[in-house]
Formats: sequence, C-alpha cells, structure tokens
Amino acid sequence: MSMSRVIKGSLVVLAISIIAPNKPLQTLLAFSILGYLITVSLIPKLMASFMKIGLKGKDLSKPPPVTEIAESMGIVSSVTYLFLMFGLIPFIFFKYLVTFTALSNDSVISDNYTDQYSSLSNNKLFPHNKLSEYLSAVLCLQSTVLLGLFDDLFDIRWRHKFFLPAVASLPLLIVYYVDFSVTSIVVPKFVTDLLPGGDLLLELLNQVIRLGNHLVTKITGLSFSTLPNDYEYSHDQPKLLDLGIFYYVYMSAISIFSPNSINILAGINGLEVGQSIILGIIFLINDFCYLLSPGVPQAAHDSHLFSAIFIIPFIGVSIALFQFNFFPARVFVGDTYCYFSGMVFAIVGILGHFSKTLLIFLLPQIINFVYSVPQIFGLVPCPRHRLPKFNLSDGLMYPSFGQLKKLTPVSKAMLLVLEKFKLIKLTRDEKTNQIVAFSNMTIINLTLVWFGPLREDHLCVLIMTLQLLIGVSMIVVRHTVGPWLFGFDNLTWGVK
Ligand code: UD1
Ligand code: MG
Repeated sequence: MSMSRVIKGSLVVLAISIIAPNKPLQTLLAFSILGYLITVSLIPKLMASFMKIGLKGKDLSKPPPVTEIAESMGIVSSVTYLFLMFGLIPFIFFKYLVTFTALSNDSVISDNYTDQYSSLSNNKLFPHNKLSEYLSAVLCLQSTVLLGLFDDLFDIRWRHKFFLPAVASLPLLIVYYVDFSVTSIVVPKFVTDLLPGGDLLLELLNQVIRLGNHLVTKITGLSFSTLPNDYEYSHDQPKLLDLGIFYYVYMSAISIFSPNSINILAGINGLEVGQSIILGIIFLINDFCYLLSPGVPQAAHDSHLFSAIFIIPFIGVSIALFQFNFFPARVFVGDTYCYFSGMVFAIVGILGHFSKTLLIFLLPQIINFVYSVPQIFGLVPCPRHRLPKFNLSDGLMYPSFGQLKKLTPVSKAMLLVLEKFKLIKLTRDEKTNQIVAFSNMTIINLTLVWFGPLREDHLCVLIMTLQLLIGVSMIVVRHTVGPWLFGFDNLTWGVK
C-alpha cells in the first residue's frame, strides 16, 4: 500500500516550489508535506533496526499468532520534526536592527522597531528577540524526546516518569521569564461584580500570592510580577490577578499534565497519534480565527502565528505515523511520541499565551485523567494495561476489568455512585453479591460500556470523532461564552 514514487516525487516538487521567504503559512505547509514524506519513507526502513535493539511489542488485541511489531516509532516523527523546526528559522525571523543612538532612548527604539516590523509586508515575520522563545521551545522538545526515549528503553516507573516533563520544560519557563514574564490572568467579571465578597476574595488571594512571591524573591533574588506596560492601553481594561510565581507553577503543571494525559488515553491502534492530530486540527482552527479575522491586535496575531508554526509541521509528521499505527497497527508509537506530542501543545499554549484556552481544548484528555484518578492514585487497583479486552470469538473489543481483592468503604461508595450514573460497569459475586471487578477507568472503556462492543478501528474513529466535536464546540464556547464571562474579548484588548 506504499505510495508510488511518482506521487512522492510530485509532492516534493510541490512543497519546494511553494517555499517562500515572507510567506510563513505557505512555507509551513511545504515543511509539513516534507515532514510527512520523510517520516512516511523512514518508518518502514527503520522498523527492523528498532526491533533489533529490543524496541518491539505485542499487539494485545489481535488474534493469534501475534507477531511482535516495532515500538517507539514516534521517535522518527519527533526527530524529523526537530530538524524541520531548525530549517524553518530563516523563513520566519528577520534581523531587527537597533542603532547605537537609539539605545539611549526607549521611544526611539520602539519607533525604529515598529518601522522595521511593519515594513515587512503585513508583519508576517518575527523579530530576532522571538527567536529565543522559538529555540527554547525546540530545546524543550528535544529534552522531552530524550526523556521519552529513556522511558521507552528502560521502562521508567510511573511515579518517576510522571514528573519528567517538568524537567524538560525548564528552558521554556526560563525564557518565558526573561522574555515575556506576564503572569496576570483576567478575573471573570462576575467574580467582582456579582459574587458577594468577590472583591474581598480577590484581595485575599493577592495577599497569599504576595507572600509566595516575597519568599521566592528572598531565596532567588528574582522578582515575579507583571509590568504595567506589558499591556496595551485601553479605556475598558478588565480586572487582573497577578499570579506571580504561581503562574510558573501552573505552567509547569501544564507541561506535566499535557504529555501524561495523552499517554494514558491509549491502548487501541491509532489513538495516541489520532487524538494528537485532532488536537492539532482544533488548535489550528482556533489559530486561524485570529490569523484571518481583520482588526486583530498585533500581539494576538503574532501569538497565533507562533502557534501555527509549531502545529502545522506537527500534523504532517503525525499523519505519516498514523498511517502505520492505525488498525491493524504495523508499528507502535511509544511513550516518546506521547510526551513529544503533549509537549507541543503545552508549548504553544504557554508561548502562544493561551494556556487557559489550551485546557478546554484538552477536555477529553482532562476527563479521562480525572476519571482515571482513583486508579492512578491507588484508591482501587490499576493493572499494568487498562486497554479494552479483545474477544477472539467475535473479533470485537469489550471493556476490560480491574479485579478487587478487598474494598474500602470509600472506594465502595465511589464505585456505587459511578454505577448509579452509568459511568462504570461492576461485576458482583453471584453468591455474596460483593463487587469483585469494575470496568477500568478510561474513557475508552467507558465508550465501550455505552456503545460497545465495537471493532477496534471503529472504536478509535468514534473516539476521535467525539473529540473533534467537543473541540469544535469548545472553540465556539471560547469565542462566545468566553468574552461574555470575562467581560472582554482578546480580539480587541490584550498583552503586548
Ligand atoms: C498506558 C496506560 C495503559 C495502557 C497503555 C497502552 C495508564 C495509566 N497507562 O501505559 O493502561 O494499556 O498505555 O498503550 O492508563 N498496545 C497495544 N495496542 C495499542 C497500543 C499499545 O496492544 O494500540 C500495547 C503493546 O503491547 C505496546 C504497549 O501497549 O507495546 C505499550 O504500552 P506503553 O505505552 O509502554 O504503556 P504506558 O504508556 O506505560
Ligand atoms: Mg504509552
């Protein structure tokens, strides 16, 4: 089923012919096509080498005889992506010159900057200072791939690997501190206007934050707060809460959450990459809302162009991997890919300055994570694999079950509540009527409890479709309910 050489060749020619300086979106599309072609050609060539060094696994949902297939092939996508990101630099940055005399006067600098910036047809390129953010993102992804690779090679324990992405995200947070350092969030209007005591609550929070900031400043000498001139002036500014150091804690939490949440929404062919591609599409639709609507402030436009720069090539290398990982899988993607993909989204959310919107786009992953909490944190047993159970006689997938030896009153109450709301399937001992097993707490199993049994590929497509529908609704919510709730719209006001 491999693509003919003629098609590949014409795609290469097409990609190269549309690369153009000063036309970032077109160039990104070209890089995405090239990324796809490189990955799709490398994977079959490298499968055997991966298996030779032990990177292989058994598909747990196929009829015997099951042969092992290459594991961790997501490395090919991620490394190809990293190289593409280096190659992109000349096409998206321009050298921003400040003359020596200009350095003594702030307003001259900014005039000089504005002149240079706007002279580049509609500000489609970034000045050099943004390059540090870009490179820190690439560095962060590189460390993520490295840590993911360690995990695939040495099978790091869950409680250790859970926090690894936070280490990888350090370059990102540090460059954020140096280059941007905005740590304020907008307080929804109803908190201060409608909620009784809303103002008091805000003041209390401010005091706690001040204390935290003070402590960190004492230890490190660094200060954490947003400067007033980080914002664009406007008559109708919303109320802000400056989270200071806690904003960094929040960003680091996102970089832990995002990769792990993708890694635990897994276990059926195609789903790890499939959900990442859908996420990429959702992010891109949101980016284009800003890139295509007229009158968007420069800052918002730039943030979303930055996001698109990371997402478009990501989709290219991921589609190639999906082709091999979709049912019936010829390769597994490995934890490397899950971490890498989760980190791409964390990065664009953080550096694109929409880390709150990021969370509503990750809603299915968040639901899956919250639903998994009792198992992950040991309230009820968590088997090594929670993927659905393959039934040999009809070839369909059924929910898999976790077995219970003993049951604490808290866990029992929890299981019964979940059962009442049809959020879990329980099996009971026929004689004693005691609960002996429960369907594993992933939304994959839950989908099967509701709509199953299903064929593995149908299950994957169903989950991806639901994810896309949720994502698109969230974009609508973001641009309708969001502005109403927060009392402003960042299409007209925002951070510089
Ligand atoms: C996570 C999940 C685990 C799930 C596993 C599957 C949690 C806490 N952990 O663990 O429940 O079973 O992902 O990826 O939720 N495999 C298949 N078919 C697939 C994909 C994977 O059979 O479509 C099997 C293969 O044997 C493969 C192995 O899963 O080798 C990969 O597991 P790994 O990614 O290492 O598991 P974790 O990420 O630790
Ligand atoms: Mg995994």
